[in-house]
Amino acid sequence: MTQTFLDLPFVRAQFPHTCFNDGWAFFENAGGSYVPNAVIDRMTAYMRASQVQPLAPYPKSQLAAERMADGHARMAEMIGATADEVVIGPSTSMNVYVLAQALRPLWKAGDEVIVAVLNHEANSSPWRRLADFGIVVKEWPVDAETGALRTDLLEDLLTERTRLVAFPHVSNITGDINDVPAITRQVHAAGAMVCVDAVAYAPHRAVDVKAWDVDFYLYSFYKIMGPHIGMLYGKRERLLEARGQGHLFFAEDDIQHKLNPAGPNHETIAALAGIADYVEALCAHHFDQPANTLHARTAQVFGLIAAHEQRLAERFLDGALNTPSLRLLGRHTAHDRAPTFAFTIKGKSSAEVVQALTAQQIACWNGDFYAPRLLEAVGVSDTADGVVRTSMAHYNTVEEVERLTNALERIV
Ligand SMILES: Cc1ncc(COP(=O)(O)O)c(C=O)c1O
Repeated sequence: MTQTFLDLPFVRAQFPHTCFNDGWAFFENAGGSYVPNAVIDRMTAYMRASQVQPLAPYPKSQLAAERMADGHARMAEMIGATADEVVIGPSTSMNVYVLAQALRPLWKAGDEVIVAVLNHEANSSPWRRLADFGIVVKEWPVDAETGALRTDLLEDLLTERTRLVAFPHVSNITGDINDVPAITRQVHAAGAMVCVDAVAYAPHRAVDVKAWDVDFYLYSFYKIMGPHIGMLYGKRERLLEARGQGHLFFAEDDIQHKLNPAGPNHETIAALAGIADYVEALCAHHFDQPANTLHARTAQVFGLIAAHEQRLAERFLDGALNTPSLRLLGRHTAHDRAPTFAFTIKGKSSAEVVQALTAQQIACWNGDFYAPRLLEAVGVSDTADGVVRTSMAHYNTVEEVERLTNALERIV
């Protein structure tokens, strides 16, 4: 029978025993998620049996190449793209940096980029650095109380010189989900491109780059149950016109090499197939009639994940919004946000709150999470102490969230 709820014991059984049996409630998922056995198995299988230079004619080398190609292709398929539209590089920070350098020669002094204050710095600094080359950088503000993206201000920021708008699908601080298709349509109508940071979105919802018509879309696998590498999706024509940043002999249509000057990280690319294995295992367990493509099966699984995470978010909001002197950034409703919660408590430093939670075996952290501009914009003046962030993933339970909210009630 097709299951309409995520089977949490089944989900948790896919991870190493130590993940959920050490007495801790883990809420640092926006920092990096746990990794299922399938990913670890793929990594060790690669290193045990095929850790050689790939693509040579001997069998071990062919196996290495096949395993890497499999990881790469399945990650592309999950988001509705093909392997030649996807570059797998060291991190989202590095991938955005390389992309900005690759687009810069196509632009002239006086051209404009719009950078959301809501961004993690990964989707901010690389574009701001282009000011050194005469590119005009405009800031897209947030609401000073909630940290919400001021979509009402975008129209006035766009001009005929706008080349690109850089913004997050979800903020790693507020958790708000932005309307990527609508913003993309608006930006395209002005003749510009979008660069969407989806690092804080991809662990929570299915991705469909084609349906949304995004130009560039990036995320990091270590936030979505994988190894510590990142992916850049780009429309094929955009990737082709971007200028190579790798060795000079790489052809302009060799996208994977020309836009990854660091070179591929072999065993981690092979391990990516484990993320798809995990999604397939969840799909087979929950659905009598799995869809025809990995992309569609991913959407089935993330439908269950989103519903479960909404329950976690509702439970957290019930507790947090009734906690006196707690200021929660982002939306106060569960359905249009990721379960990533950033807050401050009046009269306490964020470090103190985290210390108290840590003492109760609740894993979380405080700080600016590399989004200091956002914290300044919402009036968190001591950005080093910053906000407390507690972030859930689909493998968390309602009981764990209750442990957190009960602990917060005791702290205030
Ligand atoms: C929203 C967001 N964007 C970008 C990044 C940077 O990703 P990476 O560590 O792969 O550079 C992070 C990392 O925390 C993030 O949360």
